[in-house]
Formats: sequence, structure tokens, C-alpha cells
Amino acid sequence: MPSTAWQRYIASFCPYGIMITVLISYYSRSGNTRAIARAIAKGASEVKGVKVRLKSARNTTLSDLKCADAIVLGSPTYYGVMAAELKDLIDRSVAIHGSLEGKVGAAFTSSGGVASGAETTLLSVIQAMLVHGMIVQGYPEGQHYGVAVVGDPRGASVKLCRDRGKRVAELAIRLSGRQHR
Ligand SMILES: Cc1cc2nc3c(=O)[nH]c(=O)nc-3n(C[C@H](O)[C@H](O)[C@H](O)COP(=O)(O)O)c2cc1C
Repeated sequence: MPSTAWQRYIASFCPYGIMITVLISYYSRSGNTRAIARAIAKGASEVKGVKVRLKSARNTTLSDLKCADAIVLGSPTYYGVMAAELKDLIDRSVAIHGSLEGKVGAAFTSSGGVASGAETTLLSVIQAMLVHGMIVQGYPEGQHYGVAVVGDPRGASVKLCRDRGKRVAELAIRLSGRQHR
């Protein structure tokens, strides 16, 4: 149960109370980015005390963004940047500009090929997150900027997605100052 007045105030607007909420929002035309989103969601949900919400960008509301402790956004690589459908969510978020500050952010993409715009797509998402004042954690090994998969995730890349989901959830818990052991 929420313990402080502030936690009770937040809980009155956000449905998951004091659970750490990881929102995964994505656009996917042919299912590859959706498959990455699901694998990231699986990893994040393995962290105790975390509630995962998985939504299409179109169905993501501004309240969903405000109530999340971590926001993970995914898009197919389209000409080296995010798809217009995800950009639309980011552009809608101007209405709550300032209220995403300090939330954890992370990005993922599915591309058609290797080194054909995936990293610039991740950066296009991260750029918007930084404008919002969000906290984006890099990764010292492997994929530094976020999850990039060619096509849909299989084998080792499924593990990579799950691990990244877990990492995002753990950072959100660390920054919240709460312990879930
Ligand atoms: C309009 C459009 C632009 C694309 N541009 C790129 C691109 O620049 N680089 C690339 O590697 N793949 C590109 N692709 C391929 C998609 O990124 C790839 O098929 C991806 O897996 C689709 O994800 P989805 O199944 O979630 O829709 C493009 C596809 C479309 C439809």
C-alpha cells in the first residue's frame, strides 16, 4: 500500500500504485518490432516489484507515459529514423512536456539489414528522450545505444532483448530508491 502522502497522491492517478511501472510502447507494421517488444517485456517482468505494460504507440496515452517509471520505445528502422507512428506519440507528448523528466528511457528497433540505419534510428528515439529530460543508460558491451535486431528476434537476440528489459527495470528500481528483493 502507498505509505506517504505523495505516494497516495500518485496512486490516485496511476493504476499500479507503488509498483515500478515499465511501459513498452512500439509501432510495428509486420510484427518484428512487436516481437522485440514482447521479449523486452518478458525480461522486465522477471524483476520483482515491476509491472510491465505493453502497448502500441497509437494506443499509448499521455497518462500511460506520465504513470510509467521507465519508458521503452520501439520502431522499425525507416530510412534510418523512427517510423512516423512512433514520432506521432512523441509529438503528442509535448502536451506533458516537463513531466517525463527523470524517468528511465530506452529504445529498440528492427531493421531490414545490418548497419543500414538501426543505430541512427535508436538515436532518433533517444534524442527525443533527452529533450524530455529522461535518463538513458548506455551499455558498455555489445549494443551500446539500445536493442537492434535484424528482422525478428531469434536465439541469442531473444536473450539480448530479455536482458535489456531486465536492465531497464532494475535501473528504474534503483533510481526510485525502493528495494524489491
Ligand atoms: C518505409 C520503410 C522504410 C524502411 N527503411 C529501412 C532502412 O532504412 N533500413 C533498414 O535496414 N530497413 C528498412 N526497412 C525495413 C524494416 O525496418 C524491417 O523490415 C523491419 O523489420 C520491419 O519491422 P516491423 O515488422 O516491426 O514492421 C524499411 C521498411 C519500410 C516499410
